[in-house]
Amino acid sequence: MDLVIEKKNTLKGEITIPSDKSISHRAIMFSSLAKGKTLVKNFSKGADCHSTLKVFSELGIEHKFLDEQTLEIISDGKLKAPLKDLDCGNSGTTMRLMSGILAARNFNSVLTGDESLSKRPMKRVIEPLSLMGAKIESKDNKAPLKIYGKELNSIDYTSKLSSAQVKSCILLAGLNTKGITSYTEPFVSRNHTELMLEYLGADIMVNDTTTKITKSELEAKDIEIAGDISSAAFFIVAGLIVPNSDIIIKNVGLNPTRTGILEVCEKMGANIEILDKRLLGKEEVGDLRIRTSNLKATVIEGDVIPKLIDEIPVIAVLATQAEGETIIKDAQDLRNKESDRITATVKELQKIGADIEETPDGFIIRGKKHLKGDAEVETYHDHRLAMSLYVAGLICEKPIKINEFQWVNISFPEFEELMNKLF
Ligand code: S3P
Repeated sequence: MDLVIEKKNTLKGEITIPSDKSISHRAIMFSSLAKGKTLVKNFSKGADCHSTLKVFSELGIEHKFLDEQTLEIISDGKLKAPLKDLDCGNSGTTMRLMSGILAARNFNSVLTGDESLSKRPMKRVIEPLSLMGAKIESKDNKAPLKIYGKELNSIDYTSKLSSAQVKSCILLAGLNTKGITSYTEPFVSRNHTELMLEYLGADIMVNDTTTKITKSELEAKDIEIAGDISSAAFFIVAGLIVPNSDIIIKNVGLNPTRTGILEVCEKMGANIEILDKRLLGKEEVGDLRIRTSNLKATVIEGDVIPKLIDEIPVIAVLATQAEGETIIKDAQDLRNKESDRITATVKELQKIGADIEETPDGFIIRGKKHLKGDAEVETYHDHRLAMSLYVAGLICEKPIKINEFQWVNISFPEFEELMNKLF
């Protein structure tokens, strides 16, 4: 589906942000591992989380939708050997977290993915799992992954990457392994796994960048999922750069390991108010009021990177409207996402008139630049690229055409409907 985006002179109104993708994946995984009945409320409609759900059906865990977004999962805590390959679709989170769960079971399984996922690096999980004694076969450390499940040994692992997917993989292997498994990362990455495992009764302890886990049984407990700040990011940026805008974004997950975009916006001088901060389980949520702002450039690097890793393409759009030179560094792992998000963002934003330059680990963006638009842009089969370009299109002088916009459905099928509410 191709889409033409036209300039808007104002955004006004109130929207509610749908379910967090990272938390939705974990809700399915952990309630399937727990003994008993779980109600998962506000489950994501994105294709990625439905891939996780399908994987657990193949593993013998029953689920029932009580309504479109409320799910009942009944489990005896035991996974069954799958009769076919487990298709993770486009979802890196599914493949990496499942590899940790499956490596420590007493059956074999094969994890497969779509074209994009089959190109993404899996060495980051195969290597530490192998140190635990796991047996995983692959070609060049890429999917399909053939996992020969077995009893593993615990490890103390220090990762070079700040990746919640790798951390969660090892913690989930540790959850079913005798002894204490300890995982240390350079900077703290999103901690939804740690919070939800603790909520469900696992023996897990976090000290700064180190997490320790011991073999535990999980108890089934209802889970309500917060709105996704990574989805809210597109509306935050749109509200800041479209003239005369004043919008309210409700139910945004504000877990401090995810709020890097708010830290950066504040440094850039953005007009953002956080209203009604509250707790949903162990996760913080709140509402945001966003108004058009005069922005100044900044440097984005180091420990804030894992806290805004998925938001960088749309932050690049934001930086085109900030006075001065914005530098984004330490983000080389963006090249390993659903697309090479550094090259893709630079190439497509240049087409519409942005002054943006690629560096090995990020970008240099010079603003404030009038975007001319009048171009056809590509999504690279990447949902976040698609939505970032949409937001850029809202301030382009002439319309832009986005090819294959349907990739938005991977995380955020409601995106267009919610945008339309603000026009
Ligand atoms: C995710 C972690 C991030 C993020 C991805 C979801 C998760 O990946 O990019 O969209 O749910 O754990 P890394 O942890 O590998 O950076």
